[in-house]
Amino acid sequence: MTYLVTGGAGFIGSNYVRNLLKNGERVIVLDAFTYAGNPDNLKEFTDRFFLPKSYTEVHPIRADTSSWRIDVDQSWVEMTKNRWKRKFEGYKITELTQKSLDSSLKDTNLAVVIGNIVDRDLVQFLMKSVDVVIHFAAETHVDRSILRADEFVKTDIYGTYVLLEAARSSKVEKFVHVSTDEVYGQAMDKKFKEEDPINPRNPYSASKAGADRLVWAYSQTYGLPVIILRPSNNFGPYQYPEKLIPVVITRALRNEEIPVYGDGRQVRDWLYVQDTAKAIDLVIEKGRIGEVYNIAGRNERENIYVVKTILKLLNKSERLIKHVKDRPGHDRRYALDDIKIRELGFSSARFEDVIEDVVKWYVDNKWWWEKILEMDTEYKAFVERWYSENAEQP
Ligand code: TYD
Repeated sequence: MTYLVTGGAGFIGSNYVRNLLKNGERVIVLDAFTYAGNPDNLKEFTDRFFLPKSYTEVHPIRADTSSWRIDVDQSWVEMTKNRWKRKFEGYKITELTQKSLDSSLKDTNLAVVIGNIVDRDLVQFLMKSVDVVIHFAAETHVDRSILRADEFVKTDIYGTYVLLEAARSSKVEKFVHVSTDEVYGQAMDKKFKEEDPINPRNPYSASKAGADRLVWAYSQTYGLPVIILRPSNNFGPYQYPEKLIPVVITRALRNEEIPVYGDGRQVRDWLYVQDTAKAIDLVIEKGRIGEVYNIAGRNERENIYVVKTILKLLNKSERLIKHVKDRPGHDRRYALDDIKIRELGFSSARFEDVIEDVVKWYVDNKWWWEKILEMDTEYKAFVERWYSENAEQP
């Protein structure tokens, strides 16, 4: 079987690819390497990356979406070029052809393609070699979506459409779509079940909700064999340091203030990334086509508890905590009823049993996140803008 893993160089994607390769599966990764996609995430498996000849270096959005105006000014182009140079330093980038794709799959079971899921020609070309699609690729950061939603709409919705069309014409065996618990909106006093209405409240979750329903529509309209997963907040190694847990660890290690939004009593249900990987394998094996499955970590914890737990593990003072202005449209709580996937045999780790190892991974792999913090000028600009605009005390 050959898997196409979109976003396979990102956080959850690369953790999943690692498992596939260890199980001897064949994998094509398609990743835009915008910012969270990182060749270092797959370093242990390859130093070769394939670039389609038609790839536009300036911006990954290709001709078929040219009706969208893209604001690309010179400083952005320079910034992107510099970022790429550093990002792929020490790695080989070679041209993607049918021959290079086939020989890489044959020799290493893996081919990592630099490209965007909105690129119809590229997606159709790759899909011809694929049996199962696991679709992780998405813009994922709520805070960024609040500053600028356009990339979320393009990648998360349009990109999903392009994949669905290609999957339909190549008759793939299964299309697993990785959605999110955030499509339900905030949970007040109950846990969401799969059939509950969706009610997304920020541009990120609204884009994911659009993609989620489009995938389902393709199963209803065209009989595409899809399965939709709605996992809760993932945590683990290789998570880009913009999300709560890696933000806390990496800032604490540098003795920087830890920004806690509002009162910090918001609740997220933390799911270990390896458990997400297990859930995907489980639904591929036993899941029902056309169904939605919630995946919960069953670790509902307040943000402030998560922050204090990590500070304690790192032996850092709680004085680093700084309560800052709350995120607009901030969902107070996410909570899932995941009995449907538990009945297939799913189980998940307790937050307290894995967080120490996760913290240790970031302590032991400083090279990984220090390089990101140092090279990613766009990330620095985001951090400066986001945290300065939200700097006031609540
Ligand atoms: P995040 O990791 O961004 O995931 P999501 O918003 O998709 O759930 O945030 C998790 C929670 O942590 C959320 O309630 C917002 C909060 N948060 C902070 O308090 N400070 C931060 O610096 C970040 C990034 C998040």
